[in-house]
Amino acid sequence: MADASIESVLKEDRKFDPPGHFKARALVDDARLSSMHERAGKDHAGFWADLARREIDWHRPFDTALDDSDAPFFKWFADGELNVAYNCLDRHLEDRGDKTAIIFEGDDGAVEHISYRELHARVCMFANALKARDIGLSDRVVIYMPNTPQAVVAMLACARIGAIHSVVFGGFSAPSLKDRIEDAQARAVITADGNYRGGKLIPLKDTVDKALADGCESIETVIVLKRAGNDVSMDDGRDVWWDKAIDGQPAECEPEWVEAEHPLFILYTSGSTGKPKGIQHSTGGYLLGAIVTCKWVFDLQDDDVFWCTADVGWITGHSYITYGPTALGATQVVFEGVPTYPEGDRFWKMVDDHKVSIFYTAPTAIRALMKLGNELPQKHELDSLRLLGTVGEPINPEAWMWYHRVIGHEQCPIVDTWWQTETGAQMIAPVPGVTPTKPGSCTHALPGISAEILDEEGRPVTAADKGGNLVISRPWPHMLRTIWGDPDRYKSTYFGKYGNQVYVVGDAAERDEEGYFRILGRTDDVVNISGHRLGTMEVESALVAHEAVAEAAVVSRPHEVKGEAIVAFAILKSGEPGEALAGELRNWVSEQLGAIAKPEEIRFADGLPKTRSGKIMRRLLRAIARGEQITQDTSTLENPQIIEQLQRAGR
Ligand code: PRX
Repeated sequence: MADASIESVLKEDRKFDPPGHFKARALVDDARLSSMHERAGKDHAGFWADLARREIDWHRPFDTALDDSDAPFFKWFADGELNVAYNCLDRHLEDRGDKTAIIFEGDDGAVEHISYRELHARVCMFANALKARDIGLSDRVVIYMPNTPQAVVAMLACARIGAIHSVVFGGFSAPSLKDRIEDAQARAVITADGNYRGGKLIPLKDTVDKALADGCESIETVIVLKRAGNDVSMDDGRDVWWDKAIDGQPAECEPEWVEAEHPLFILYTSGSTGKPKGIQHSTGGYLLGAIVTCKWVFDLQDDDVFWCTADVGWITGHSYITYGPTALGATQVVFEGVPTYPEGDRFWKMVDDHKVSIFYTAPTAIRALMKLGNELPQKHELDSLRLLGTVGEPINPEAWMWYHRVIGHEQCPIVDTWWQTETGAQMIAPVPGVTPTKPGSCTHALPGISAEILDEEGRPVTAADKGGNLVISRPWPHMLRTIWGDPDRYKSTYFGKYGNQVYVVGDAAERDEEGYFRILGRTDDVVNISGHRLGTMEVESALVAHEAVAEAAVVSRPHEVKGEAIVAFAILKSGEPGEALAGELRNWVSEQLGAIAKPEEIRFADGLPKTRSGKIMRRLLRAIARGEQITQDTSTLENPQIIEQLQRAGR
């Protein structure tokens, strides 16, 4: 719950104007930005409709921009028809067919350049392979792959035939994969035998086999890319190697023209309760968001080399690897590995090697690399860079300043971009040729995005440095359309608080006296580990699924590198509390949910602090996990003596 009286403790007076050389060639200047804001303010839907007509190649043009007759189920450009793969590939063939679309660097350092013509051919062949296995319009396809060009090919191939992809990050465990496959009722899984990340083998196909071993009856086909060369078992009737599947398939495939509201993909993300939510995005509106933000925020131009270090398994990889940059015909780097392998200067070496001009990463990576010292980046020129970006969590001013000085050489604007899986594309972010930046602030809402801060009663919070609930008070084209299979949950989660027009973000935020936004964190029981949202409920359920655990509560505490780290409190029904069991439980959670969910610490106790109505007092646990003084009123506690025991368990 956002506390309307959250006070700002962090004062930030530094402010950085866009460098002159950047301003001189930027796509958006002051006048253009002002006129966009003005136009959007006067005619919200018309503003977006103009952009949609200009930026997208429509097979059938639309007449209606926004249909809000069934709010909060909004429709954009609904009577238009298009194909996303056509917009990302075919429309570039004439002018940019030989231009490099992807510079791929593998974990082992091998580099491959793929032109738009080549990418088009690969996507068509793979699309035909899917069709040959009877996958078509509206079928769900789960993609569980390494961060390679083939993952991009698989996504674009689904888009080409109107199938709905659901990418599951390769770090997720078999049970998580299974839940997602079953929720989406997917007919096919696309995976790889395995791949190397940081020199370590990730056995993807084994995990798929485990997920499919019990349940997942909807799966008929598994397509397996040979990547690591590790031994895998293949089920004759169900599994086929990627190369075999595309063998003999034509390099042309007529796009399936779909309505703008046709679901392009589902992507699962954590909520505060129960199972992950399948965030469903549209075709036309989503594509528009990815395109315009690449122009406004990244200033992405024809001669740039763009690099988003995210994995395609997250929304950032969807919007800023697979869809946005390709829709603009840009050249981009795709990287399979990790920032610190084989050495801590991998990113900086790659920036030089590939002459990267726009670099987009997460604060957690910046903090990890900052800890390694300045010598590593200083071994490299980094002079091709002209713009830096961050996403996923608040960036602390210290890390921002390091990024600015040591990586950007004080020459590159930093775009701190606030958005979510649900918003589809960046929402609050600087326009780098115009907006002066401040460390720790994502600055202002983009044109056509109505971001506001409301108190619990729905009144605008106008005082500077007062926190409240961040909301988006008008629909926007790239917003989620629903939660897959659960429209009621969509409505209650995002529109339950202030009515059917006002999207509730779930973050607390504040604005300073100049109106700059600062995000204060989540308002629900969701933690942000290394820039990824994780529901504490999921971790608790995993712990309770272990035979020794009777009850569990999970909270977070700040972590230098990861942003937040998980602390779990466990009540045992069997077994001995101690190091051995703590280690076992930590590994257990990692197996159940994936390594990012692994608790940093487990504390054992006889009970949890509960109110008389039986509610776990999480705020109290948070204070205990952070080693803070307990200032809260504990008089409503059913079992006050438990506090001391929980505190002691951490010593
Ligand atoms: O809390 C905000 C934080 O990440 C959440 C969205 O997480 P997810 O859907 O996994 O998407 C991450 C990548 C877009 C938000 O609700 N967040 C994201 N970007 C920022 C941020 N917090 C502060 N500053 C940001 N720039």
